[in-house]
Order: sequence, then C-alpha cells, then structure tokens
Amino acid sequence: MVTGAARGIGRAIAEQLAHDGLQVVATDIDAAAVAATVDECRTQGLDMSGEALDVGSRAAAQALFARIGPVDVVVNNAGIASPMLGFRDIDPAAWRRLFRVNLSGAFIVAQEAVRHMASGARIVNIASRGYLGGAGASHYVASKAAVVGLTRAMAIELRWSGITVNAVAPGMVDTRMLDDFTVPMRRSLENREPSGAAAHPQTIADAVAFLCSGQAAQINGQVLLVDGGKSVGMPPL
Ligand SMILES: NC(=O)c1ccc[n+]([C@@H]2O[C@H](COP(=O)([O-])OP(=O)(O)OC[C@H]3O[C@@H](n4cnc5c(N)ncnc54)[C@H](O)[C@@H]3O)[C@@H](O)[C@H]2O)c1
Repeated sequence: MVTGAARGIGRAIAEQLAHDGLQVVATDIDAAAVAATVDECRTQGLDMSGEALDVGSRAAAQALFARIGPVDVVVNNAGIASPMLGFRDIDPAAWRRLFRVNLSGAFIVAQEAVRHMASGARIVNIASRGYLGGAGASHYVASKAAVVGLTRAMAIELRWSGITVNAVAPGMVDTRMLDDFTVPMRRSLENREPSGAAAHPQTIADAVAFLCSGQAAQINGQVLLVDGGKSVGMPPL
C-alpha cells in the first residue's frame, strides 16, 4: 500500500513494487488522479488497485485497512511542501497543514497498518534530505526531521514483531512538488545538485524497492539518503 501514489515519487514506487510482483494498492487524496494512474498501470499488466485516502483522516485509514486486509508493505509517501517562506513568516495554519500530512499522515497510516501486519512486513517512510536542515522551509524541515524520529522510534518497538521501519530521504526530485519554485529559483537549486539536475522519481522507487526486498531484512531504523551525495559535504572551491 502506497500513499500519495497518483503521481510523482509515489507513482514510481507503486509501479516498481508492482513490477517486483507485489499486489499494490495505490492511494491518494485525489481520487480521480489515482484512478487514472491505476488504469494506466493496469493496461501495462501491473497488479494494482486504487483507493482514495486522505492520510490525515484516521477514520478513512481504518476503513481502508479493514477493506484491504493483511498488508505486507506500507510506503508513507504522501507529503506536501510550500513556497519558500522565512521562519518569521510561517503562519500557524501553514504549519498545521504541513504537519497534518507529512507527520500525522505517516503516523496514522502506520498505526492503522500495523494492526494488519505480520512478521516480515515492511514500513518505508519518505522523508527528505531537508530533514538535515535548510533555509526557507522550517515547517517542512521540522516535519521531515520528525518523520525520521518517528521511523527510528517505531523501528525499536516493532522489531519485536518482525516488522522493519526505514526512511528514504530524497534530494531534489523532478515532480510537481517543484512547481512551488519559480523557474530561476529551481534552476539555481538544480545547479547545486551533484548531477546538476533534479533526479528522476525512479531513483527513489529503486531505493524503496530495495528496502522492501528480501535483501534488506536486516536493515531497520535507517535513513537512506538518495541525493547523489550532496548531503555528504560541500563541493570543492
Ligand atoms: N520532489 C522532491 O524534490 C522531494 C524531495 C524530498 C522529499 N520529497 C517527498 O517525496 C514525497 C512525494 O513527493 P512528490 O515530489 O512526488 O510530490 P507530488 O506533489 O508530485 O505528489 C504528492 C502526492 O501526494 C498526494 N497528497 C497530498 N496530500 C495528501 C493527503 N493528505 N493524503 C494523501 N495523498 C496526498 C498528492 O495528491 C500527490 O499525488 C513527499 O513526502 C515529499 O515531501 C520530495
């Protein structure tokens, strides 16, 4: 089960997991968009169904898992960003909106999912390189740092049930989330990426698929940064 799977990184993850042989439930707050995505994937022969889900709704998550039954993999991908805003200018409503989706969404979906999971199940949370810090989006940075904290804390508790919990932290990825930036701002940000460009969503899907595979059974409570190495340090002068 993948959240925010109508487009972007979530869609790439849903497609990759289906290619890997999983029966995928793609979910998104945008019911029409996820239905269209699922239709396209099914025409390619992928085993995928679609469901509307707002990850901030406990009742909706409960109802969804009651319908789909036992679940082996949950990918908490749904997330929102916001236009660049200085710390002083972030209003309480924007703060709450972001935390409702990015943090509470992952918490609610994971909490409801584990009731339907057995030993060997996997949870992967999509964080962001931004969790390390950055100017112009304190609320986004804080929400993703909290996702990492949640991941690590859940991993400790759930390891006794044989469920692993990891996070993938992407760098800049070419999706509609980048529409929040003006064109010059986006160009400037891309120039700072090691590859000089935003990555393809597939690069994140590959990392998630690895964490969901048999080879990753011993990996638990980790944050896998997928950013071409930008987070490791500064470029040469
Ligand atoms: N694109 C990047 O550069 C980048 C970098 C780091 C991390 N991420 C993270 O990757 C994840 C996916 O982002 P993306 O770039 O694919 O963005 P996107 O905007 O292209 O897609 C996000 C999807 O989430 C859905 N969504 C939004 N609110 C929702 C809700 N309340 N419930 C369910 N679905 C909801 C949207 O409808 C959309 O389909 C997010 O968690 C984001 O923070 C993205």
